Amino acid sequence: MDKIQSLTGMLDLYDDGDMTNTSSRLFEVERVVKDIFLNYKFQEIRTPILEDASLYKRSVGDSSDIVNKEIYSFNDRNDKTIAMRPEGTASVIRSIVEKKLDQENHKLWYMGPMWRYERPQKGRYRQFTQAGIEILGIPEGLPEYEMVSVVCSIINKFKLKNCCIKINHLGTRQNKASFCKALVDFLEPYKKDLNEKDIERLQKNPLRVLDSKNSETQTILKNAPSIKEFIDKASIQMLNSIKNEFSDLCKIEIDFNLVRGLDYYSGFVFEAISSELGAQDSFLGGGRYDQLSTQLGGKDMPSIGMAIGLERLANIVNPTKQNRKLVSFIIAASNLEPKAYKIAHHLRSLNKDVVLDISLSEGSLKSKMRKANKNNADFAIILGEEELKNKSVVIKPLKDELKEQQAVSIDDLYSFYKAL
Ligand code: HAM
Repeated sequence: MDKIQSLTGMLDLYDDGDMTNTSSRLFEVERVVKDIFLNYKFQEIRTPILEDASLYKRSVGDSSDIVNKEIYSFNDRNDKTIAMRPEGTASVIRSIVEKKLDQENHKLWYMGPMWRYERPQKGRYRQFTQAGIEILGIPEGLPEYEMVSVVCSIINKFKLKNCCIKINHLGTRQNKASFCKALVDFLEPYKKDLNEKDIERLQKNPLRVLDSKNSETQTILKNAPSIKEFIDKASIQMLNSIKNEFSDLCKIEIDFNLVRGLDYYSGFVFEAISSELGAQDSFLGGGRYDQLSTQLGGKDMPSIGMAIGLERLANIVNPTKQNRKLVSFIIAASNLEPKAYKIAHHLRSLNKDVVLDISLSEGSLKSKMRKANKNNADFAIILGEEELKNKSVVIKPLKDELKEQQAVSIDDLYSFYKAL
């Protein structure tokens, strides 16, 4: 019989409790990122992971790699084509437009799994986790600063080294169109030197050629027109102002070649990259997408947002040791479990900073003690028949050899535990 295995590019993650693997780091990263979002007064939005597939054609765009070849989709029993979400922004706008909330301003955050049928490699998975924020209904200006401020908070909170925020401005719709035309005119004579992928990009979304990983294309592009010549002075001023304001917090670079892989962007765009990540070096990205609401049938709702790739962020944060105390509650005789569980329940409610691990399986006192030591517990609480008769327990320090174990009353155990 064939062995059933996990799907390519989809990870099983296990928590080893000490921040040395991805699951423990993800847990910590999710907690801290959520805290930062709440600190900026973003409100949570949860949307379904399945959407009508046409949502992504109309938002992320026909010319994006995502819609072209990466969408996970299937036909449901009614023959409707359903997609597993490849990102969160389209769903957020779909929801706000559908609920007719598109006349108000919103600051929203979300977190959850996304799917893209990409070629897996380090830092690139087919199922990955994003945490995103969207500021809806406010035109270009202040929200750009708020976005960069959040990015700086994330970088500083995790004390990330070797990273940089790249910013660019794609101009207005007209600016973007004129630049695209100039780029196409420039590249036309070199078409024969471009690879198939870049020719396709040139036809569908010329801006994406700037993103090419092909070295010959990049050599050709050295003399190409720059977006800088097509955008307003005010846009360049804004880039400079953001750089000036935040450069003491994080490294910020204006990169006129920065384009994003999704079609809905116009105006300010940005990415944060880390040299510790290898080829997939961008751990977050976003930008302004003022037309998306009207594209999805809603009111004019200028908006900006970003999403963090949490696995990538988790890979560059420094593991911090858990400093919560661990106590192992050892039941040293059979039939004492109900009593022990009741005591443990009370202990947990007395001190939420301590982790209390109670033995769930049968075994000798010796093997349970071995396990407590292996888990690096600070103390063992031992409850045996003799102790219970005397309404007492034994507290055994496991890390300090000079300290003796002691038998204490249950009430004293509660006081001891509370003070840990
Ligand atoms: P994105 O650049 O496609 O933007 O994705 C954001 C982040 O998700 C990337 O910077 C990366 O860290 C992570 N990511 C993307 N694909 C993968 C993958 N296959 N494996 C692991 N991580 C990945 C968006 O999704 C936009 N919705 C962001 C946005 C929000 N723009 C405006 N609002």
